[in-house]
Amino acid sequence: MTDPDAVTSETGPILVVDFGAQYAQLIARRVREAHVYSEIVSHTITAAEVTARQPAGIIFSGGPKSVHVEGAPVIDPAVYDLGVPVLGICYGAQLIAQQLPGGVVANTGSGEYGRTEMTVTAPDAVLFGGGQPELQQVWMSHFDSISVPPDGFAITSSTPGAPVAGMEHVERKIHAVQYHPEVVHTPHGQAVLEHFLYDVCGCPPAWVMSSVIDTQVDLIRKQVGGAKVICALSGGVDSAVAAALVHKAIGPQLTCVFVDTGLMRLGEGEQVVETFQRHQGIELIHVRAADRYFERLEGITDPEDKRKAIGELFIRIFEDVSGGIEDAKFLVQGTLYPDVIESGTASAAKIKSHHNVGGLPEDMQFDLVEPLRSLFKDEVRKVGTELGLPDEIVWRQPFPGPGLGVRIIGEVTPDKVAILQRADAIVREEIRAAGLEREIWQAFAVLPDIRSVGVMGDERTYGYPAIIRAVTSEDAMTADWARLPYDLLERMSSRIINEVDGINRVAYDVTSKPPGTIEWE
Ligand code: XMP
Repeated sequence: MTDPDAVTSETGPILVVDFGAQYAQLIARRVREAHVYSEIVSHTITAAEVTARQPAGIIFSGGPKSVHVEGAPVIDPAVYDLGVPVLGICYGAQLIAQQLPGGVVANTGSGEYGRTEMTVTAPDAVLFGGGQPELQQVWMSHFDSISVPPDGFAITSSTPGAPVAGMEHVERKIHAVQYHPEVVHTPHGQAVLEHFLYDVCGCPPAWVMSSVIDTQVDLIRKQVGGAKVICALSGGVDSAVAAALVHKAIGPQLTCVFVDTGLMRLGEGEQVVETFQRHQGIELIHVRAADRYFERLEGITDPEDKRKAIGELFIRIFEDVSGGIEDAKFLVQGTLYPDVIESGTASAAKIKSHHNVGGLPEDMQFDLVEPLRSLFKDEVRKVGTELGLPDEIVWRQPFPGPGLGVRIIGEVTPDKVAILQRADAIVREEIRAAGLEREIWQAFAVLPDIRSVGVMGDERTYGYPAIIRAVTSEDAMTADWARLPYDLLERMSSRIINEVDGINRVAYDVTSKPPGTIEWE
């Protein structure tokens, strides 16, 4: 595995200490948006572990608990004496007040939630940089408040419910804000973070995607040496960017395997071949497996049985092909940073079943190359663009591993796939033409296993309906049906019925998730 720590170049990383808030990831992203590399760490980190990572600074996140509750998370107090700059946010600010001598955190009974007006009492405070309005809006979410700052700290701002909304100890480089500078509802919040990063920690805004690429290229070369590397391409953005990055590092030592299941969207198989083989010059084994998939799926109607059949066949084909590549010792995976945070470990792992290209088995003996494991999705997209991948791949919507197999209800046949591919292409074309592509999380068509009567010209028809599904979402955990304009729905409907033989009716799915799921199976 590549070493995410080594992504940093001129200074060490900013460590974002997670006290259990939903804001830790957001803080890490805001720091990266300021072009400084950040990583999330647990609050159980010791001072010695902090020192070993040589951070340029530490940010304590907010947290859901009160510092007074038994078992509330704390940080090793020796961290304050390391000389590493500290910024405490919300719970993090209160923890500083509680752990350092002289500070008092009180339950005043006057918590603040949401937009709050703050008065800057020390405009020259380091985090305000002399340039912030005296009265400003900030986002608050707290019930306890710091009532007395620790010894040697100066108060820098206050609100009606928080007499110490900001405090600093310039010599010790310890700063704290009760409010949330990382959220958009605090308009001057990003400037506060930047003053901490640039002025207190001394980090230059040097972490840019081109430097990420250069660092990863070096790391990949060191990791794999002269060995052969394989990569299963799914057509999705993560495996595509990972493959392009590894190819930049080791060129012909990389072989990509693209299993064309026949269950991809219209033209997608050709586009993968076009992009990777012809344009990027990557050695690509294109397995045309549609016939095998249709044969395997014959008669299967249960959604889970379909998924299993599609997954197993993928593994069999991938094993056959990879077994034929001599000296292949490494497998590229498009694992992203949120997966690493969720699994709670940054250590190397053998292949796991939640693999994003079809669930490869655990006993496959490859070491993993995971060049994206320190990046968020939006950063992966930037790397992809920088590496010259086309927008159609970089901005591709999420697409399930089993493909159209789980968007055709009932038995999957070549005829139904052909019908669905054309209806689905119209949905996506119209979304693009309406300029909604980046607002919509996923937009696609589903083919149910029913038919209905219609009339076209003077003829009776008996055809399938196409169901349009379009959702907005942040992370696919929850989703809402997209409020598409009626004229857009009408265009989709009339084009699908006129252009796709076999479809005589169009319906729009108005179900959110939960209670529905995004996909139909
Ligand atoms: P659901 O339907 O559970 O989907 O709301 C959430 C997100 O995951 C995608 N999805 C899959 N992706 N293999 C995948 O790689 C699958 O079997 C699968 N099922 C759903 C779905 O497209 C959505 O983005």
